[in-house]
Amino acid sequence: MARTCTFLFLLSVTFTFFILTSSSFEADMLLTFKSSIEDSKKYLSSWSNTSETHYCNWTGITCSTTPSLYVTSINLQSLNLSGEISSSICGLHNLSYLNLADNHFNQPIPLHLSQCSSLEYLNLSNNLIWGTIPYQISQFGSLKVLDFSRNGIEGTVPESLGSLKNLQVLILASNLLSGSIPSVFGNFTQLVLLDLSQNSYLMSEIPSNIGELENLKQLILQSSGFQGKIPDSFVGLRSLTHLDLSQNNLTGQFPQTLLSSLQKLVSFDVSQNEIFGPFPSGICKGKGLINFSLHTNFFNGSMPNSISDCVNLERFQVQNNGFSGDFPSGVWSLPRIKLIRAENNRFSGGIPDSISEAAQLEQVQLDNNSFSSHIPQGLGLVKTLYRFSASLNGFYGELPPNFCDSPVMSIINLSHNSLSGSVPELKKCRKLVSLSLSENSLTGQIPPSLVDLPVLTYLDLSDNNLTGSIPQGLQNLKLALFNVSFNRLSGKVPYSLIYGLPASFLEGNPELCGSGLPNSCSSDLPRHHAAGITVLTCALISIAFAVVTVIIAGGFILYHQSSKQNKDGHWHSVFFYPLRITEHDLIMGMNDKSSIGNGGVFGRVYVIGLPSGELVAVKKLVNFGNQSSKSLKAEVKTMAKIRHKNIVKILGFCYSDDSVFLIYKYSQKGSLGDLISCQNFHLHWGVRLRIAIGVAQGLTYLHKDYVPHLLHRNVKAKNILLDADFEPKLTDFALDRIVGEAAFQSTMASESTSSCYNAPEYGYSKKTTEQLDVYSFGVVLLELVTGRPAEQAESRDSLDIVKWVRRKVNIKNGAFQVLDPKISQSFHQEMAGALEIALCCTSVMPEKRPSMVDVVRALQSLDARTCISNTGDSIDEHSIPI
Ligand SMILES: *[C@@H]1O[C@H](CO)[C@@H](O)[C@H](O)[C@H]1NC(C)=O
Ligand SMILES: *[C@@H]1O[C@H](CO)[C@@H](O)[C@H](O)[C@H]1NC(C)=O
Ligand SMILES: *[C@@H]1O[C@H](CO)[C@@H](O)[C@H](O)[C@H]1NC(C)=O
Ligand SMILES: *[C@@H]1O[C@H](CO)[C@@H](O)[C@H](O)[C@H]1NC(C)=O
Ligand SMILES: *[C@@H]1O[C@H](CO)[C@@H](O)[C@H](O)[C@H]1NC(C)=O
Ligand SMILES: *[C@@H]1O[C@H](CO)[C@@H](O)[C@H](O)[C@H]1NC(C)=O
Ligand SMILES: *[C@@H]1O[C@H](CO)[C@@H](O)[C@H](O)[C@H]1NC(C)=O
Ligand SMILES: *[C@@H]1O[C@H](CO)[C@@H](O)[C@H](O)[C@H]1NC(C)=O
Ligand SMILES: *[C@@H]1O[C@H](CO)[C@@H](O)[C@H](O)[C@H]1NC(C)=O
Ligand SMILES: *[C@@H]1O[C@H](CO)[C@@H](O)[C@H](O)[C@H]1NC(C)=O
Repeated sequence: MARTCTFLFLLSVTFTFFILTSSSFEADMLLTFKSSIEDSKKYLSSWSNTSETHYCNWTGITCSTTPSLYVTSINLQSLNLSGEISSSICGLHNLSYLNLADNHFNQPIPLHLSQCSSLEYLNLSNNLIWGTIPYQISQFGSLKVLDFSRNGIEGTVPESLGSLKNLQVLILASNLLSGSIPSVFGNFTQLVLLDLSQNSYLMSEIPSNIGELENLKQLILQSSGFQGKIPDSFVGLRSLTHLDLSQNNLTGQFPQTLLSSLQKLVSFDVSQNEIFGPFPSGICKGKGLINFSLHTNFFNGSMPNSISDCVNLERFQVQNNGFSGDFPSGVWSLPRIKLIRAENNRFSGGIPDSISEAAQLEQVQLDNNSFSSHIPQGLGLVKTLYRFSASLNGFYGELPPNFCDSPVMSIINLSHNSLSGSVPELKKCRKLVSLSLSENSLTGQIPPSLVDLPVLTYLDLSDNNLTGSIPQGLQNLKLALFNVSFNRLSGKVPYSLIYGLPASFLEGNPELCGSGLPNSCSSDLPRHHAAGITVLTCALISIAFAVVTVIIAGGFILYHQSSKQNKDGHWHSVFFYPLRITEHDLIMGMNDKSSIGNGGVFGRVYVIGLPSGELVAVKKLVNFGNQSSKSLKAEVKTMAKIRHKNIVKILGFCYSDDSVFLIYKYSQKGSLGDLISCQNFHLHWGVRLRIAIGVAQGLTYLHKDYVPHLLHRNVKAKNILLDADFEPKLTDFALDRIVGEAAFQSTMASESTSSCYNAPEYGYSKKTTEQLDVYSFGVVLLELVTGRPAEQAESRDSLDIVKWVRRKVNIKNGAFQVLDPKISQSFHQEMAGALEIALCCTSVMPEKRPSMVDVVRALQSLDARTCISNTGDSIDEHSIPI
């Protein structure tokens, strides 16, 4: 018995000893590896021989579990490491995965890692690796995945690379490789991904033995100075799904049978080369093509064995080449096709009606070719299409009535064609942003339905033969471009369309009239008439105002008395702060003298002095729905818990059956809106930027950090209060939660639906989203950048700020014209940066607007004086929100 015990004891001691040696051995390897690394952020603090953590649990380490613990994988990606990659880790015999990507290692390719006998995966992407690829690279024979992308590796690719027979993934993208790529690919029978893109110093033909890689799925050779022809051998790439040869110097004709061989192809991109000649027309021979080709005798008998259907093809990009001949019409009806780009070639042919079968088609660009056909009816049946541009072609005939029926359609450009007939009514494309039909032979009227397209921003109907008048309702759209020059339009032009638009946009229509145009409208009679109407309107408004005032005043007095009579009996109050004031004092303090501004739509605001001498602002909410007092209390309490330096603190509230008083901290400087409306508004740019950042931070807090997430829903300069240090404080937030959704909506609607703080989708989308707040914030930012108030109440016809800015920035170098001239030139770069952010926020398409988090970041980077380099042109691009 004793002997067995001794034996077991010895055995266990031996075993423990073995474990200890092996572990301390591997741990030592790792510690040696760490000792040559600089770990400025201390991410590797768990790597320590004193720490209690087993080394298999150190940051980035993975161990095998059977038969025993061995390090198999080290992943130290994105830890801001620098220093030296030492070969000590090759003492880890089972190490197969080493990922050091996204660090700052600054050294030549660490050849000694080839001693790691089990290493299969090596990722050094995005470091500062320099020098050439050494001949001895062949020593990495065990590697299956090699990623050296995004470094500074230079020189030529050595022949010896061809010995890495086990490679499945080879990525050398974004380096400084030069010279010619040797034919090293014969051994790479297992290669699945080859990426040599963005090596702009290469001057090479594409090695033809790439075509032997039967397992290759992705071949990415974009922007790498490849020249010569696309090798015919590419027909052998039978597994290929992604082919990107774009932005090279490839020339010659396209291999005739290539596309029909690559049956698995999903993405095909040969754009921006110098490939010329006819595109093999028989490719992607689908059902549609067979029918089409029978009609037009398209094949010319030359494509007998094209059996491919290209059924997987999603992206077809051949733009910016010299292709001629008929466009391969089979592409139009592929079941999965999403993107067709062929602009800037010399393609002829047409779009067949079978385009209706392309049920996933999103984007078509054919500009600057020689297409000539009708615009097919089938186009309007594709419900996913959001961009169709085919300018500078020979499309003729009438526009089919359904041409804008896709519910997601955003951009249509058919300018410079030979279209005739009238422009059909556009009723279904509620997301249309840009419509250009200029330089055709269209006749008839400007369709009145344009007025109902809520986000229409760019409208170019110039150089046609349109007649009739300009629909008055167009002045209600936020048009940045409205060009109807050189038509035969007549009648009165709405004043706000004349104001702010270049005169050239209306010229060439001799029968148009209006103030500011060569013709004033027939006789001055209508003018008097208009003036008469204005006087009448004013009178009516004044009377109405007087009546309302009387009613309100009467109501107030009555109410006042009743509250006195009731000795505050019906009032309940909840204070979150020792206010030492009674409801009675509050109500007594609320009189015309203490009222400031009109306090916005939801009720007046009064400033009341507390016995302590402090001032509080009291907002009286009337017209709140039928919230029960219980839920009312819950909602206000929810909001009162918000503590953020850019959100006004709610100190308490009082409520009775029909009113709520919200008590806020009072801000000394009044609101940003009051300040901007002042004639002599003059704030230093630095202060404006800090106000913008503060407001953005407040909104971020409401949207993302506060639980429950809140929407402000009424962001405008008037609701941004400034304290003594100009720190902004958002007020009037989330009032929908207090007054209830229905009352909120009707109150907002009564203010004015067309307030320029409201995003374009506000009117027609029921959803309330963060993007609505982002838009309103963008308008505030425009006010800060331009120094103009968003809306100028006194002159009814003048443009709101969004229209004004959009029209200006649409002109070359216009961006600098909108910046507040009161601010010194030296800040113009920064202001232009802020303008760019504001334009993004006020993008017509909600999904193009950034989140408030992104806005904060972008504004802060401006504040840090890292100016975004900026020109009028780049702003121009942003103002086209696509
Ligand atoms: C831990 O490592 C340090 C430096 O590598 C060494 O000086 C020390 O002796 C080691 N301690 C133990 C307990 O192994
Ligand atoms: C690593 O940590 C986990 C959880 O903390 C623990 O279960 C495991 O035993 C540790 N592994 C080793 C080898 O210490
Ligand atoms: C990364 O490390 C370098 C020094 O190696 C240091 O200068 C830099 O600030 C660090 N960056 C970050 C983001 O930690
Ligand atoms: C680990 O490496 C050792 C030595 O090279 C080898 O004998 C063993 O089979 C490897 N174990 C695993 C799980 O790979
Ligand atoms: C290498 O790391 C980079 C950076 O994280 C990553 O994008 C890339 O996909 C990795 N490469 C491979 C082949 O896994
Ligand atoms: C293939 O590998 C062998 C030996 O590993 C080598 O001699 C040959 O040159 C390689 N072929 C190519 C095309 O690189
Ligand atoms: C293409 O080749 C021509 C002539 O060799 C050269 O002038 C041009 O710069 C090249 N273009 C690119 C993008 O490499
Ligand atoms: C092609 O023609 C056949 C027979 O005429 C017809 O049944 C089929 O619908 C047509 N397909 C297309 C896409 O027009
Ligand atoms: C069409 O066929 C005719 C006669 O076979 C030939 O002359 C012509 O070059 C062919 N056209 C194309 C584009 O292949
Ligand atoms: C417009 O119509 C007139 C008269 O019908 C015609 O002479 C002219 O060529 C047309 N212009 C365009 C651009 O179609």
